[in-house]
Amino acid sequence: MTDEAHLVAIESLRRTRNAVILAHYYQDGPIQDLADFIGDSLQLARYAQRTSADVIVFCGVHFMAETAKILNPDRIVVVPDLDAGCSLADSCPADRLAAFRASHPDHVVVSYINCTAATKAQSDIICTSANAVDVVRSVPADRPILFAPDRNLGAWLNKVTGRGMDLWPGTCIVHETFSERSLIELKAAHPDAEVLAHPECEPAILALADTIGSTSALLTRATTSPARRFIVATEPGIIHQMVKARPDAEYLPVPGLDSSCACNECPYMRLNTLEKIHHALRDLEPRIEMPEELRLAAKVPLDRMLAL
Ligand code: 13P
Ligand code: SF4
Repeated sequence: MTDEAHLVAIESLRRTRNAVILAHYYQDGPIQDLADFIGDSLQLARYAQRTSADVIVFCGVHFMAETAKILNPDRIVVVPDLDAGCSLADSCPADRLAAFRASHPDHVVVSYINCTAATKAQSDIICTSANAVDVVRSVPADRPILFAPDRNLGAWLNKVTGRGMDLWPGTCIVHETFSERSLIELKAAHPDAEVLAHPECEPAILALADTIGSTSALLTRATTSPARRFIVATEPGIIHQMVKARPDAEYLPVPGLDSSCACNECPYMRLNTLEKIHHALRDLEPRIEMPEELRLAAKVPLDRMLAL
């Protein structure tokens, strides 16, 4: 089947299934274009929580779809590809976090939403990159904090908030591999360009950035800034929306360390295709399911975040 045929089938099935298609900013352009809602991790979680559609097709990665199921368990949540994981989620297995908690009972555990339901269940409060500063500031100043699993986001938060959080040694395989040398070269070649960076980037990249923020914050900056050229240090899928919002501006993705590629795509996010979305809607598989006990335990720290 061609992509056009898959799109026709998706259009028909989304109506008969009463489905909504959610897409993260790191999806391929055609997937963003067919989605009912596009957003960052926080916006997607909030949308998933309130939708009354019978089926949620989650075009992102596994932990995002899992979050949708935790927050809205009566919906059928399907993903185009169950293998769409995340290096951050992999870096912090729940049993290791539980062992940390057991040996550090005084610590408040703040976990980035990029983790499994089981890891969320071992956390006191969840954050996303959009609300992480507020979440960290909500923890009483006299309590020690473990921030898991992204050490780069954690180090940036320590800088912004002045907290000395202990950091779990996890990283995003996309954001840890932006080339500092390429970024310096891009800045030298385009001194007028504004550098936009996601806080999952390494500190050396963040030190060169003009704006640091979540995908939605970077999109807002590209939309409102007077600059006409942007160097983008996050997954280049976001550029699809930047071009739509500011078609007059130029966007230069920062390459990864592997210089054979001009940009740095997330291999997990890019597993999703139109064909797999079609099949997920047709078969209502693969589905996200979890034991109710786990769902309820993972919901507690998510609810704390959403209540802030
Ligand atoms: P945000 O969309 O919350 O900025 O997260 C980026 C990310 O890495 C998602 O996997
Ligand atoms: Fe995980 Fe990084 Fe991919 Fe986001 S971009 S899903 S943090 S590996």
